[in-house]
Amino acid sequence: MATHPIPPFPPGFLWGVSTSAHQIEGAADEREPSVWDAFTAEPGRVKDGSTAAVACDHYHRYQEDVALLSDLGVDAYRFSVSWPRVDSPGGLDFYDRLVDELCAVGVRPVPTLFHWDLPLALQEAGGWLERDTAFRFAEYAARVAARLRDRVTQWITLNEPAEHTLLGHALGVHAPGRRLLFDALPVAHHQLLAHGLAVRALRAAGVTDIGIANSHGPTWPASRESADVAAADLYDLLLNRLFAEPLLLGEYPDGLGEFMPEDAGADLEVIAEPLDWYGINYYAPTRVGAPLGRDDAFAGVPIPAELPFSLREIEGRPVTDSGWPVVPEGLTDLLTAFRDRYGDRLPPVVITENGCSYEGVDDRERIAYLDAHIRALHRAIEAGVDVRGYFIWSLLDNFEWAEGFARRFGLVHVDFRTLRRTPKASYRWLREVLREQREGR
Ligand code: NOJ
Repeated sequence: MATHPIPPFPPGFLWGVSTSAHQIEGAADEREPSVWDAFTAEPGRVKDGSTAAVACDHYHRYQEDVALLSDLGVDAYRFSVSWPRVDSPGGLDFYDRLVDELCAVGVRPVPTLFHWDLPLALQEAGGWLERDTAFRFAEYAARVAARLRDRVTQWITLNEPAEHTLLGHALGVHAPGRRLLFDALPVAHHQLLAHGLAVRALRAAGVTDIGIANSHGPTWPASRESADVAAADLYDLLLNRLFAEPLLLGEYPDGLGEFMPEDAGADLEVIAEPLDWYGINYYAPTRVGAPLGRDDAFAGVPIPAELPFSLREIEGRPVTDSGWPVVPEGLTDLLTAFRDRYGDRLPPVVITENGCSYEGVDDRERIAYLDAHIRALHRAIEAGVDVRGYFIWSLLDNFEWAEGFARRFGLVHVDFRTLRRTPKASYRWLREVLREQREGR
């Protein structure tokens, strides 16, 4: 554990924690079904066979969870709004109550409008492979904004459209479980279009503080061999540039044309609606090599032989329980690379997720991880990158998608049998860091 205090962050820097609806709310029988309900009902989809029908039961225990946020001393709380819940009678009332509770303790609510739990009815109509889903999303965004805009100022449209495309539609390890490989690319485009239409709908509702949460990370070639460098460049294209460039530059990078919907170019103006800030979820770099010529798997993710890259281990680094390497300087490098690539086109950045999975409540590894990443973030700010906030994934241990409850990302331990919450050592450590930051301001 580090002995030196973390250097002071700029005045007004926003400290927060993140969660998402499907991963914590439970109360699945009190809303319409989503793609994740259908997916987890299929045997073999989730490693421990669990579902998120109850999860942390946050839907019924949100007051206890808001008290934990208040006691922690964060400025902001990033949660997601469940579209299938909003589609249910009285569904928006829950977010009304949650927002009121947050405002009452002075924690800023920062909702994400889509964190992967598409209403099942929309999936049955084609889901994100259908252009129409983008328009349905904008209507839904307008409904949520009309209800919450009087108390919610800062909004996020989508969470990680890259992972939702790759894991959910290209490789089939997340809902809706499609294995379309490159034919999944229209899913990326339709989510980006949904984002742009939602930005317009939110602006029309008077919202002035809008961002998106994209997963990004450095892509390291496995060697200097040209085949490895080319594979790493392609992975960079798919993870980073495919999402950042239409949003920030109003253009798609070259190299994807044949897989994109024919009319994609015509939507770029909508997709590139100016953002107030750009959210980045960072966990680790990816080491990428030429294809191995056979089916493979990396950290539980299948990499079929048809794909033009393979994922390799980063050696010499500790790994989290998820098998992800701990590389804090990857965060500094990612941020300076984004600044160098996009210059003035990059709005202020917010780290919308960063965190790690480890067992136990005496979680020194999590403290070490967070300490190192917060310092790495500070170095990026010193290097001139305009970063305005940092959100830790996650407040609570929760339903980690295809990993079920086996991966614990929380600052607060949840006993999934009794639903009892127990703050971990990292929670107390963060509370102290936040107190020091406030005093240093
Ligand atoms: C990114 C996702 O947004 C979140 O839902 C997930 O739990 C974390 N990463 C950890 O994998």
